[in-house]
Amino acid sequence: MADILTLSIQKGGTGKSTNNGALAYIFSELLGLKVLVVDFDPQGNQTELLTGSDTEEFENQTILEAMEILDARPYVLKISDNLHLIPADDNLGIFPRRAFSRYYQKDEDGNVMFDEDGDIIISPEAGTVLKKTLETVKDHYDLIFIDTPPMLSEFTANALIASTGTVVIYQTHEFCFSAVRRFLETIRDCQEGPNPDLKLYGILSTMLDKRRSDANAYLELINEKYSDLVLKTTIKHKASIARLPIYGLDPDNKELDNALDLYKLVANELLERIKNNQFFEITEEMTARDE
Ligand SMILES: Nc1ncnc2c1ncn2[C@@H]1O[C@H](COP(=O)(O)OP(=O)(O)OP(=O)(O)O)[C@@H](O)[C@H]1O
Ligand SMILES: [Mg+2]
Repeated sequence: MADILTLSIQKGGTGKSTNNGALAYIFSELLGLKVLVVDFDPQGNQTELLTGSDTEEFENQTILEAMEILDARPYVLKISDNLHLIPADDNLGIFPRRAFSRYYQKDEDGNVMFDEDGDIIISPEAGTVLKKTLETVKDHYDLIFIDTPPMLSEFTANALIASTGTVVIYQTHEFCFSAVRRFLETIRDCQEGPNPDLKLYGILSTMLDKRRSDANAYLELINEKYSDLVLKTTIKHKASIARLPIYGLDPDNKELDNALDLYKLVANELLERIKNNQFFEITEEMTARDE
């Protein structure tokens, strides 16, 4: 049965899709594991990265349709023998409305129920749509990566509820530093509620521009505050990584070795943590506001 991983943070443009794609490539193509990537972001960047095609090519063949029938099997796209993808496109934006309307709580007469604030009451089952959908394929894989959009939303909730483990993506920047604390709170809420088995495997620092003193300072800060949680390898800001969407995660890409060198170290660190069951409790201190 697969380990299902959400590598995420609610902050945008922090390298989530790049990290998910690069790690999925390493685990599948270089380490020989069976890997599925779920593009769970209406932007479809993961779909573009792994297929080299526009998301419009995959209309009606995406995770949205899979969730409609709670079965992922017809929507798995083979990138290679070991690397598979369930694509996404713009239409996934309607997921909360289309998939969730099934879970509106209704009274005996079939009328939708509202809470005191006038919001529709949604059954907690709505958070398990992705989990149920992936249950149909999880036995076929060693690892499943879920690429999420940049927001705390039904998407993130569904991803965390479907996951066995999570890693916080941290870009060395003020806005991302404050987002880490709040993302950890979200993980803890999920552990205390719908997914007690969700394991926090750590924090991955990314896109570090070593020439910038502010970036180095934010790297120090995360290491100070979260010490052992932070993976030892930091992904640097590199042109070869920035060009992955152009030249692809493809052996023909002459820059691929350069782009992936640090990711190989991250893959080993992450695999060690998963194998050794090395995960972290979220303490009050970790989610406390900074002075
Ligand atoms: N280590 C890196 N060095 C240089 N460029 C990078 C690096 N990681 C990602 N990028 C580039 O930064 C941009 C944002 O990366 P990416 O799309 O992976 O972030 P994201 O967190 O998935 O964004 P979103 O929140 O929109 O989903 C992209 O143009 C990507 O190619
Ligand atoms: Mg993304």
